[in-house]
Amino acid sequence: MSGLAASGAPRSYTLIARILHWATAVLVLFQIPAGLLIVNFDLGPVYDLHKSVGALILALIIVRLPWRLSHPAPPLPSDIPPPQRVAALTMHWVLYALLVVQPIVGWIATSAYPAPVPFFGLLELPHIWWEDRVLSDRLFVVHRSLGIAMGVLLIGHIGAALYHHVIRRDKVLLRMLRG
Ligand code: HEM
Ligand code: HEM
Repeated sequence: MSGLAASGAPRSYTLIARILHWATAVLVLFQIPAGLLIVNFDLGPVYDLHKSVGALILALIIVRLPWRLSHPAPPLPSDIPPPQRVAALTMHWVLYALLVVQPIVGWIATSAYPAPVPFFGLLELPHIWWEDRVLSDRLFVVHRSLGIAMGVLLIGHIGAALYHHVIRRDKVLLRMLRG
């Protein structure tokens, strides 16, 4: 089977797209509560893990975006009304934007603090900004707001996936799970 519908549009997500989606999903769903924990409790090792996981999320999105741009997403079921299509598309591209911006803001804020940016104990990532404590404080406020915004959007995203699977009983969740 070619994986293409008669129109030439893809029927499903590629294996690479699915691996990148679920790897990112696990990391981000760890990252938001981990961020909230480290600012509220004294959890040294989780700090390092949060920075490492954030850098990994950035690396994954650098691979994922070119892949996505060269491998279009499969079309939604034809009976989905246009406003819902626009909502899904907007949600996905806002999530992509946040996956790029949020780790960069975290990295710049940490560099400007300045605090180390470890990568799973393997290496130390370079600082990408000079020391500027005022900027760092401001960027951590931005980092918090973007982190909370991501959490809220993801509740909607996961809710939409469940709505497709449980209520509409279509293949939208399955095509991201098993292609
Ligand atoms: C349990 C958690 C999650 C579930 C059940 C889920 C489910 C899905 C499903 C079913 C799709 C395909 C939608 C379609 O075919 O139109 C999708 C796409 C997408 N998901 Fe998730 N997702 C989850 C977590 C996440 C997380 C944590 C992120 C990142 C912050 C994320 C980002 C995206 C993006 C950007 C797309 C668009 C893919 C495309 O380009 O078409 N997802 N998700
Ligand atoms: C998608 C990736 C990321 C997400 C979703 C995320 C999310 C969060 C969240 C929700 C918080 C709690 C903020 C608060 O309540 O004040 C936080 C804190 C923090 N994040 Fe991230 N983060 C990400 C990437 C990064 C990266 C790449 C770095 C550094 C290299 C980083 C460094 C930090 C630090 C140092 C804190 C603690 C700030 C403080 O002590 O005030 N984050 N993050």
